Amino acid sequence: MTLRHEYDVLVIGSGAAGLTLALELADSLRVAVLSKGKLSEGSTYWAQGGVAAVLDDNDTVDAHVQDTLDAGGGLCHEDAVRQIVGDSKEAIGWLIDQGVPFTRDRHADGSESEGFHLTREGGHSHRRIIHAADATGAAIFNTLFAKAVAHPDIDLLEDRVAVDLITSSKLGLGGQRCLGAYILNRQSGHVETFAARFTVLATGGASKVYLYTSNPDSASGDGIAMAWRAGCRVANMEFNQFHPTCLYHPTAKSFLVTEALRGEGALLKLPNGQRFMPRFDSRAELAPRDIVARAIDHEMKRLGLDCVYLDISHKPAEFVREHFPTVYERCLSFGVDITREPIPVVPAAHYTCGGVMVDSAGHTDVAGLYAIGETSFTGLHGANRMASNSLLECIVYGRSASRDIRAQMNSVSMPEQLPEWDESQVTDSDEDVIISHNWDELRRFMWDYVGIVRTSKRLQRAKHRVDLLLGEIHEFYSNYRVTRDLLELRNLALVADLIITSAMQRRESRGLHYTLDYPELLTSAEDTILQPPSAGD
Ligand code: FAD
Ligand code: SIN
Repeated sequence: MTLRHEYDVLVIGSGAAGLTLALELADSLRVAVLSKGKLSEGSTYWAQGGVAAVLDDNDTVDAHVQDTLDAGGGLCHEDAVRQIVGDSKEAIGWLIDQGVPFTRDRHADGSESEGFHLTREGGHSHRRIIHAADATGAAIFNTLFAKAVAHPDIDLLEDRVAVDLITSSKLGLGGQRCLGAYILNRQSGHVETFAARFTVLATGGASKVYLYTSNPDSASGDGIAMAWRAGCRVANMEFNQFHPTCLYHPTAKSFLVTEALRGEGALLKLPNGQRFMPRFDSRAELAPRDIVARAIDHEMKRLGLDCVYLDISHKPAEFVREHFPTVYERCLSFGVDITREPIPVVPAAHYTCGGVMVDSAGHTDVAGLYAIGETSFTGLHGANRMASNSLLECIVYGRSASRDIRAQMNSVSMPEQLPEWDESQVTDSDEDVIISHNWDELRRFMWDYVGIVRTSKRLQRAKHRVDLLLGEIHEFYSNYRVTRDLLELRNLALVADLIITSAMQRRESRGLHYTLDYPELLTSAEDTILQPPSAGD
């Protein structure tokens, strides 16, 4: 049994960001791409609406930049926004070259045109979302995945859970360089050592920290937690985005109803059929997400509702079925025919706007360690991500980090002599109920106390509870053999602590962070940057 593996580049995460980077590197380097479950497990596969890009002749980079800055509540880094939006056309060209089957536009007679159909979403002043019907993420994932499978220099490894990064400082070797990672192989049950010249965190977001989320189970913030433990700064963790419209049904786990429905005219309504968004914002249903989610939360609390309704039944049934086949089929399977009746919806945690701080090439604070995609903080999203900007960020940063790695590849050698994972002091857990109980408790108090509307008292309560959990989890981790559930709980608790700490530091209401104790906006907009106590703790 091999417990040590060597790769030029270790990519932890097989979503849009990780696969893009791997494909861009593999002609010159040996690359491993890991997923902690199935390779399709990340959020990428579930993305519906599309990818925002400047593709229409009447649209401009300046307009896309301005919309992003407006949605971001004064906290976007304009240089990062300009870089990503400026690269958007090329990034889409790259996806088209890989073979992603984006939806074509239609001529007036119904025949397909050469051009691509562009839809709209909240905050965008133009139609600029390129999409593959309402299953854009699956189209992107399937295309990139097929290419990666066929590539002889990419090893795609599923059921491999990264436990922690191996750094020179943790090994007492001096300096601060990432040398690889310890990986739990769920098929063999062993923790293996992956030595790598470069390591890339492409582990997605952390929305699983909340009880209700649109995200798949993988979104437990592992990359953010591992980077923090390795000595990297994180920023703006208080800004977790809540998507306004997830299907409300007792057995529909995490099903998103894409914002593109609103882009094509769907209206939000109360149970009596009245619209309410025009009371909250002149852009009504197409206001940025923070405003729409807060308005829904407000109406649900004011009227004691379990949900509100999203109605597209006034549009021709054929149009609805053609543009939104996934939503149509899924809702129908729960007894809701969206061509004839409104859809019951509620907000749910959707996107982690903060993350591991990186520069324009995806470098973190630790040499040899990159972070790309949702796990990173590039400065693009500010206090509120604009819809469909994240897949764009994954592709642009996957490509820019790969260029940076290629430029350095001759100057970095393979790490030698990394110690094996030491299991001599641990045993199998005898009480897994502690893990499941703490999972539930954590996600519930994060939803209740650190959700769409916050107060200082609720944050203090959450802080008190997370401190207790961190202590218990640390003890459990020190005594028992690691499992995926334990590793995720350990990471979720740490990320929850980072979110609460950041939220406590922000004494204003901005973008996605809304607190009744500080409802006003401060005049100067500052990032919340947290520094780990010391590398290797
Ligand atoms: P992911 O695609 O989430 O992949 C993460 C990978 O990391 C997975 O392979 C996972 O197994 C792996 N991983 C995590 N932890 C570990 C570990 N410890 N060890 C090993 N592997 C690990 N954005 C848009 O721009 N447009 C949209 O239309 C859109 N729609 C969305 C709809 C839904 C329902 C959701 C949930 C999100 C949507 N988003 C959308 C957001 C977007 O999909 C994500 O931000 C993006 O896909 C993240 O890609 P990623 O490559 O960073 O990570
Ligand atoms: C959606 O389709 O509504 C999700 C888009 C996004 O999260 O960017």
